[in-house]
Amino acid sequence: MTAEVGVIGTGVMGSNLARNLARNLADRSGARVAIYDRDVDRAHGVAAEHPEADFLVASSPADLADRLSGPRVAILMVNAGKATDSAINDLVQVFEPGDIIVDGGNSLFTDTMTRGEIVAESGIEFVGVGISGGEVGALEGPSMMVGGTESAWSRLRPILEPIAARAEPDDGNAEPADGRGERANQLECIAHVGADGAGHFVKMIHNGIEYADMQLIAEAFALLRTRLGLTPCQIAEVFREWNRGELESYLIEITAEVLDHTDEATGQPFVDIVADSAGAKGTGGWTVKTGLDLGVPVATIAEAVAARSLSSASVLRSSGTTLDCPSTATSAPVDRDKVIENVRQALFTGKILAYVQGFHEIAAGAQEYGWDTELGEVARIWRAGCIIRARFLDRITEAYEADPALSSLLADPYFQDSLNAGQQALRDTVADAAVHGVPIPALASALAYFDGIRTSRASAALVQGQRDFFGSHTYGRTDRDGSFHTLWSGDRSEVTL
Ligand code: 6PG
Repeated sequence: MTAEVGVIGTGVMGSNLARNLARNLADRSGARVAIYDRDVDRAHGVAAEHPEADFLVASSPADLADRLSGPRVAILMVNAGKATDSAINDLVQVFEPGDIIVDGGNSLFTDTMTRGEIVAESGIEFVGVGISGGEVGALEGPSMMVGGTESAWSRLRPILEPIAARAEPDDGNAEPADGRGERANQLECIAHVGADGAGHFVKMIHNGIEYADMQLIAEAFALLRTRLGLTPCQIAEVFREWNRGELESYLIEITAEVLDHTDEATGQPFVDIVADSAGAKGTGGWTVKTGLDLGVPVATIAEAVAARSLSSASVLRSSGTTLDCPSTATSAPVDRDKVIENVRQALFTGKILAYVQGFHEIAAGAQEYGWDTELGEVARIWRAGCIIRARFLDRITEAYEADPALSSLLADPYFQDSLNAGQQALRDTVADAAVHGVPIPALASALAYFDGIRTSRASAALVQGQRDFFGSHTYGRTDRDGSFHTLWSGDRSEVTL
């Protein structure tokens, strides 16, 4: 008995993805899924716990290869880094040319590119697939961002497409055309987003946006709490209300759930007993570092990453407890409804600007690495299954459908109108937070980013003068082409280079 696909790594993500595959394959063709784990007992445990999945449990990589029908497909669901390298090495020993190794973990896209080159030497295909949606998504339908070659995608598509999340149809006219494969209107949240490392690159940006989105929401919470004195339960109600409008998203929805939760041990709001230092596995930082390498400003994402670092910098924070904000004692009465509406608009405006940054980075990455990533398609596959799923992603898809060559989301009329409508609230909110000492780095950076783009004359002009003064770095001029240097230590005349 052979299996159609193998899953390596039977932790929660791996076993849930394997169960999702088993359910779909059994329904469609009766094909089975093989699972393998270096901890063979764990794989047997998963199989015993889920008899309905009818898993074939492999005892070694060679046994897995024997149990897979060709061309073989194995999906790695192991930790990024060394565990991924060693699982790839194991498979390369036992797979044959034409077989496909899929890395479904959160690997750094440049690692995926390097691994792809190495694996290709043996004639085996290597495909990095970004998988989002956490444990529930893996089981019920994740969003998947597929890299690798077109030929590998053709082989993987019938296996992965049926287990992907499906977005709600927009127009009620999107039923499957033939039950599988091509759809009348593509709703599955999976796409081939480009060659080699593109899948993991796009997933990295997804996570960078996720960091920004979460930080912006946390700042909105902090503002409602400190400026209005609302309780977590009251703020949960505000978020539920917001979730009925343009902010509708999974992250807003779960935020309300978290805020409504009471700690069983103390009877306190859960959010008050959770240690306020946030962890990070690195994908947000990768987004920022890659943005720096590509020359793409992703300031709001960077502030979200920095806010997590600051939250965990206990020595730094304890040294700051004696510092005070002078104006907090003199707060004037506040208009509750106005503050709530301002914060809502500031959050939506900041969120748009974080997405603008993320999509700018995807476009720059695609250009740098020669990927044919369709930006509207990326927004489409984030519409369901993934952590940043949100109603407003439809607007991004529409923007790129209306103009596939759109230079930036900022050039789209919907986003221009939204930013114009929300900017005053963002300004008022950031100003109020600054006066009262509420840390809102993501909102503040979103505003600075917006004003940086808007401004007709950047302060960088002076920076160019400084650079030329101390380092003869040269500068351009507004009135003519060329490269120039002023003889700062001499007679200050200008030379043309
Ligand atoms: C997803 C998530 C998932 C996870 C990351 C980020 O898309 O399913 O982004 O990949 O949440 O591991 O985790 P950190 O917040 O720990 O970096």
